Amino acid sequence: MKQSAVNSAQSELDKLIATAKEYVWPAFGRDSAFFDLPLSLISAGEGNYVIDSFGNRLLETNSCGAAASLGFNHPVLMEAMKQQMDKIVVTTPNLFAPTEPVVWLSEKLAQISPGSLKYTIYSSNGSDANETALKVARHYWKIKGQGTKYKVIHRYPGDYHGMSMSAASASGHIFRRTPFEPLMAGFVAIHAPNCYRCPYNLTHPGCNLLCAEELGKVIEFEDPSTVACFITESTNTGLGIIPPPPGYMKRIREICDQYEILLICDEVITGFARSGFWFECEKHGIVPDMLALGKNVSWGCGALAATHVKSEIAEAFTGKNTFQHGYTFGGTGYLAAAGLAGIEYAEEHNLLARAREIGEIMGKELGAIKDKSAVVGDVRSNAGLIAVELVKDKATKELFSDRAAVAGLIGKVSRENGVLLSCSTWYGDILWMMVSLTMTNDELGMVVDAVDKAVAAVEKQFT
Ligand SMILES: Cc1ncc(COP(=O)(O)O)c(C=O)c1O
Repeated sequence: MKQSAVNSAQSELDKLIATAKEYVWPAFGRDSAFFDLPLSLISAGEGNYVIDSFGNRLLETNSCGAAASLGFNHPVLMEAMKQQMDKIVVTTPNLFAPTEPVVWLSEKLAQISPGSLKYTIYSSNGSDANETALKVARHYWKIKGQGTKYKVIHRYPGDYHGMSMSAASASGHIFRRTPFEPLMAGFVAIHAPNCYRCPYNLTHPGCNLLCAEELGKVIEFEDPSTVACFITESTNTGLGIIPPPPGYMKRIREICDQYEILLICDEVITGFARSGFWFECEKHGIVPDMLALGKNVSWGCGALAATHVKSEIAEAFTGKNTFQHGYTFGGTGYLAAAGLAGIEYAEEHNLLARAREIGEIMGKELGAIKDKSAVVGDVRSNAGLIAVELVKDKATKELFSDRAAVAGLIGKVSRENGVLLSCSTWYGDILWMMVSLTMTNDELGMVVDAVDKAVAAVEKQFT
């Protein structure tokens, strides 16, 4: 490139950065200094790679928070969206009548979800999907003549359900709660399981699933006639991809049935093949009363989310009991077209099996890194949900004192190796990988290699 072209490209980039700093309030409390970082301004996506405005091309291991499970700009999704866009680009036309792809996607969701889960209410984000589920639960009990049942039981720590006031009230990320207090009344938290760091210092199976039994104890204390629902992830992604202990979700279902409490499973991350099943609840052999879905409802193509409800609940909302709830952007047709095309693609390419295979490959390879490393405390792999938890001391599970510095080093070394690794610092230094389900074995190898090098650098610098 000629020097004049280089100078002009640099000045365009400088202008972009300066404009971003001046006008954009970046998400999650970042300040304008964020825009000096690599990957702070994105230019394009290409398969499983992301390309930033600074010219970095990196293999993305998080699928944008598990939203883009087929990678970026998948041709099948692009074509499906284009066809619907050519017909009509609008969200909810007059009278909130659904466009045709919304109908076909709803039918498909009913076919791939378990039990009597059948009807779908659309919204824009995972937060909306959870909020909608909570409102269905409260309204349902009023219809049934049990309007005193309004409380929501949820879990902490982790178990993140979204940004709206009710979703924040139901979430277990303390740092996303305290700044916004007072949160909503009637939300009660129980401990989330974590077999690596058990809140009761017990081990499975000797623990007799005390974490599940706590739900029954809290319902008793709160009085079952005041409790509407329990909302939970299965694998607690917000805590660092912590799967439930065996038998936990079954016991939770039993307790909810025993006390007539609706069970809402938040599968905003775990839904749509990521767990090796269409929905993770199937892996645990249960059917929730409602599934909250987001992200891959459109396979990351845009804001489309869904609350998928059992027929016996949905069918109570008739006549004067209309559900007075809906969003302007609840059910965008071209995103529904992408959603349906993505499900069909996943079926044709057997992505449920591929997700399980990815989990096995990564579990084995990362397990080998754990065996030789002094700082890998735990490796968790549940199909496309994979975590590597770093500790200063494997015996005591002590955390690093400067978690941000460890995460920064992980980011730097992995980028130098062509890979974008996400290291969360909320509950330790935890690499969470929710790789695209279209990743090849060679690409998985690149990820493993980057983890190996990044972890070795942490060991060298911080122990
Ligand atoms: C488990 C879970 N639930 C809900 C949400 C909220 O979804 P959204 O950001 O689309 O509102 C998220 C977002 O990451 C999530 O991980």
